[in-house]
Amino acid sequence: MTVFKTNSKTDSQTTNNLQRLTIKHLHEVASILAVAGSDVVKGLSQIDKTLPPRYFYSDRGSELFEQICELPEYYVTRTETSILQECATEIVKITGECELVELGSGSSTKTRILLDAYQQQNLPLRYLPVDVSGGMLENTAKQLLIDYPSLGIYALAGTYEFALQQLPAKQLATRAIAFIGSSLGNLNPQECQIFFSQITEALQPGEYFLLGVDLQKSKHILEAAYNDSQGVTAEFNLNMLEHLNRLYDGNFDTTQFEHWAFYNETENQIEMHLRSLKQQTVELHALNLQVDFAAGETIMTEISRKFNIEVLQEELKSHNLVTKKVWTDVNNWFGLFLCQLQ
Ligand SMILES: C[S@@+](CC[C@H](N)C(=O)[O-])C[C@H]1O[C@@H](n2cnc3c(N)ncnc32)[C@H](O)[C@@H]1O
Repeated sequence: MTVFKTNSKTDSQTTNNLQRLTIKHLHEVASILAVAGSDVVKGLSQIDKTLPPRYFYSDRGSELFEQICELPEYYVTRTETSILQECATEIVKITGECELVELGSGSSTKTRILLDAYQQQNLPLRYLPVDVSGGMLENTAKQLLIDYPSLGIYALAGTYEFALQQLPAKQLATRAIAFIGSSLGNLNPQECQIFFSQITEALQPGEYFLLGVDLQKSKHILEAAYNDSQGVTAEFNLNMLEHLNRLYDGNFDTTQFEHWAFYNETENQIEMHLRSLKQQTVELHALNLQVDFAAGETIMTEISRKFNIEVLQEELKSHNLVTKKVWTDVNNWFGLFLCQLQ
């Protein structure tokens, strides 16, 4: 665990800020338990090749994701932001004094809307962001400390799974786990069930789960959002290969793969792939892995499932997560669920 220490040049304000910040690195634990890269070996050794979406998030990948959020075609972030702006005060009135755990916190931009709402009600502020992108987590935490002088932060650098098992003791009256940005859509139905079980294990009865999900809508709108005209999503997708090269001493040539995303209407999910432009062999030396690609063969890098409010509500209920309220936008494009563990 890193409790931030200051150097002699640090002024007293910075010292005060850093005393409010703890960062716990879960990587070592993760690598012992999961054997680093075993998910890459498994995914690339299958007939239908896959890679876990968490490998998008190198520091560069996190920057690219921030750019995606600003794209005209990517309605997701804008829509969820507008919902949060409408309902943050109501959420705070329901939860009262409450510390916020956020899974996949990224830049915490939308979270600020909630922090502002707790602050406006003169409630104490405690935030526990969780993210695999350690650089993004640390930079964001330091900026939040400057902008919120009474905020205490306990940041966990690592995966959702390990973070949920290692949350520190609660310091405020209640706790909410936030999972916004429709990251739930990256989990397949089976992973989703396991994830909900992990949420219920991490919460105590009466505590909250705040979930933001993208809803089912026309194929045309969805496909435009994942095939933007500026090519940022394509760069984000291809960056995963660069990240794997760095992590595992690999030789993926990103000019020999292309971005491909489409809406699978049967499964109600966007599928994002990287397609090999030729027959080629790639090596990831640190994993002792050699992968053959036929021309046109793809690696699925992400699914982004699109949800139906009633169906999801029932699923949550089967995990004792009872929906207190769902907020949507005027188009019914995005849903924000506030659930309470029974
Ligand atoms: C789609 S972005 C969402 C960021 C932010 N919550 C938002 O709504 O804009 C997903 C974030 O989750 C992080 N992430 C992805 N997979 C993760 C995992 N398995 N465990 C922890 N963090 C993860 C990424 O680094 C990234 O910051």
